Amino acid sequence: MTTKTALITGASKGIGRELAFIFAEEGCNLLLAARSEQELMQLKDLLQEQYDIIAEIFVSDLSLPDAAMRLFEAVKETGREVDYLVNNAGFGDYGAFADTSWERYQKMIQLNVTTLTQLTHLFVADWRGRKAGRILNVSSTAAFQPGPMMAVYFATKAFVLSLSEAVDNELRREEITITALCPGPTATQFGAESKMNASQLVKNVQIADAHSVALLGFHAMMKGKPVVLHGAMNKVAPFAIRFMPRRWVTRMAAWVMKK
Ligand SMILES: NC(=O)c1ccc[n+]([C@@H]2O[C@H](COP(=O)([O-])OP(=O)(O)OC[C@H]3O[C@@H](n4cnc5c(N)ncnc54)[C@H](OP(=O)(O)O)[C@@H]3O)[C@@H](O)[C@H]2O)c1
Repeated sequence: MTTKTALITGASKGIGRELAFIFAEEGCNLLLAARSEQELMQLKDLLQEQYDIIAEIFVSDLSLPDAAMRLFEAVKETGREVDYLVNNAGFGDYGAFADTSWERYQKMIQLNVTTLTQLTHLFVADWRGRKAGRILNVSSTAAFQPGPMMAVYFATKAFVLSLSEAVDNELRREEITITALCPGPTATQFGAESKMNASQLVKNVQIADAHSVALLGFHAMMKGKPVVLHGAMNKVAPFAIRFMPRRWVTRMAAWVMKK
């Protein structure tokens, strides 16, 4: 079997880093993108030491407008064909909508939505006619309802889920699949970086470990599942809210998201 290659964004820590180890264990070469050069270098060395694979790093701020195209071109320059694209890089910000700066929202939308969409678009176009290619887009349980106090973040994740399901459906004939991974609260730096640890949500639910979330996403992607939610409890709310008036759903989310 020829060696496959996976491109992972947000590979320097958290769920993305765990995914890098899982792909490496499967014998996949890796293209690892994030901003933290040192963390990526250390990860590359560790992976190449532990597994019989080649890892390359791409130090890039994917919240910049031209980042997706630059990354795509840099990957092309390596001469490696990407078989798996993992759009994992993302961040959130806890706080009232008007209290967060526009610059922060712009970066969030650019990273969580625009870069993810453009990378998906670039690789899907590149893979046309190849009858192969798998994409894992990291969404969230936040995708299933509006999220007062994290309104923009929840909306970006709803976008990721909707986009992934729709394009996955379009691409079935091309034998390209897109899987949306929807984790609930997971033990990574996300909670602290997004300030979400202050919310009732994080205080009252069981926090998943990043490895089990990554493993679930990996297997779902390999099977070509359109959507996968992590944890039994995380499946309850997205199912139950289908039968509730939307206003109630938003009120319940507001209660869960309060400090
Ligand atoms: N943890 C949770 O509770 C949770 C729940 C649901 C969904 N998710 C989603 O899971 C994904 C991974 O998050 P995580 O939990 O693993 O958080 P994390 O530990 O904070 O990791 C985030 C990753 O994204 C990268 N990143 C952030 N901003 C970037 C930028 N501007 N350019 C390039 N890379 C950037 C970070 O690398 P650098 O800092 O080195 O750039 C890091 O590798 C995100 O999409 C998040 O929304 C997380």
